[in-house]
Amino acid sequence: MTIIQFRDLFRSTLCYQFRYSEIDYMFKSILVSFFRFKPTIIGLNPNKLLTNKQAIKLNDSLSLIKKNCPLQYVIGKAFFLDLEIFVNKDVLIPRPETEELVVWSSKYIKNNDEVIDLCTGSGCIALAIKKMNPFTHITGLDISKKAISLAKKNSKKLNIEADWIVADITDYNEKGKKFDIIISNPPYIHPDEIPNIHERVLNYEPEFALFTPKDDPIFFYKYCINFAIKALKSAGKLFFEVNPNYCDQVENQILKKYFSNIKIKKDFRGKNRMLSATKL
Ligand SMILES: C[S@@+](CC[C@H](N)C(=O)[O-])C[C@H]1O[C@@H](n2cnc3c(N)ncnc32)[C@H](O)[C@@H]1O
Repeated sequence: MTIIQFRDLFRSTLCYQFRYSEIDYMFKSILVSFFRFKPTIIGLNPNKLLTNKQAIKLNDSLSLIKKNCPLQYVIGKAFFLDLEIFVNKDVLIPRPETEELVVWSSKYIKNNDEVIDLCTGSGCIALAIKKMNPFTHITGLDISKKAISLAKKNSKKLNIEADWIVADITDYNEKGKKFDIIISNPPYIHPDEIPNIHERVLNYEPEFALFTPKDDPIFFYKYCINFAIKALKSAGKLFFEVNPNYCDQVENQILKKYFSNIKIKKDFRGKNRMLSATKL
């Protein structure tokens, strides 16, 4: 089959799930990622014949996308700010809201700051912060060994230096070390919100990266804050990505007791999505 025949097969197979512009973007991304074709190949050489191996890869990708597997998992990578990072089913696909958190927090980061990213997943936050602020020292922490192994792979590929720790934030003590900045995008979806979540997320992204316990929607924030109470320097800053439904709870139930200068920031959709606070 030729490139254009495959493009048409993608369109006819996926047209009930996606717009043509989305299908064409996915098709092009697959060609570029797997076969290193130039993005212009569809326009310039539409009748190029594909090899059997290439056809098998395209058919496999098509059936994954048909089953609602996110493109990023199909091609094994995602963009986060100006970084191209590896992703797989052990980590969350980085979201644009999280890019906003990184850009916001970076304005407060100074040379030589010690920064820790709790619940780092693919390492996207830690790596982007270090890229934007090269004269800081950054650590990424996650409970998942597989996530940390991917974060290390990303760190190596991008040539961005960071320390990586496998640890459970509910049971973690950084013996004696103090940080200037603590940042986190922890799991924050409450199980009651499941009916509103797309099956693309539910069926493919790791459950432990998404959900809070049923009885406590701010569970992870409590432990991140406990950690910050001990490990954040006085006047150090805490940055969270938050669930807009529970932003007030994070602020009122816990932060107000130990932190000052609490700021809430809206994301590009106009929802309360980021929160910063300063240690008293
Ligand atoms: C919402 S994802 C965020 C990943 C990444 N920071 C991002 O923004 O794309 C939450 C991460 O928290 C990690 N996690 C879940 N429970 C944890 C725990 N008890 N201690 C540390 N990390 C945990 C998961 O493995 C997952 O990588």
